[in-house]
Amino acid sequence: MPDVKQGAKLFELAKDAMNKAYVPYSHFPVGAAILTASGKRYSGCNVENAAYPEGTCAEAGAIAAMVLDGETQIQDIYVIGKGDGLVTPCGGCRQKIREFSSVDTKVHICGAEGVRKSLTLNELLPFSFGPENLEQAS
Ligand code: THU
Repeated sequence: MPDVKQGAKLFELAKDAMNKAYVPYSHFPVGAAILTASGKRYSGCNVENAAYPEGTCAEAGAIAAMVLDGETQIQDIYVIGKGDGLVTPCGGCRQKIREFSSVDTKVHICGAEGVRKSLTLNELLPFSFGPENLEQAS
């Protein structure tokens, strides 16, 4: 768990990203912010498309920014959306996060007021398939 100051910074980054989302079709903005094991931060928002399946999720945007900067270890990821429910990463995003996760990678689900629930990636995606599976096969 990031310390209070780091957590607040990540929450703000995710919220700022959510406010930049391009969502003319769903009107459902989502923001994500990553803290890497090395202490760096990246954020992303969902970007929709008139060809609906081509839209990308907030988590995917944050992961792309992280990889572009040469980082590959997600320590924590904050996800924020609108409404009273838990805006948990979709199935595809759970797998995308999995690629860059460790056993203690945490996903913090946020609402307007702050973090609503913190889960390990393993809780969201148990018995997951990852890079190790490919390594074991060769
Ligand atoms: N969305 C995300 O950005 N992340 C998720 O994990 C859940 C869904 C976006 C995709 C789409 O632009 C909108 O939320 C409604 O599904």
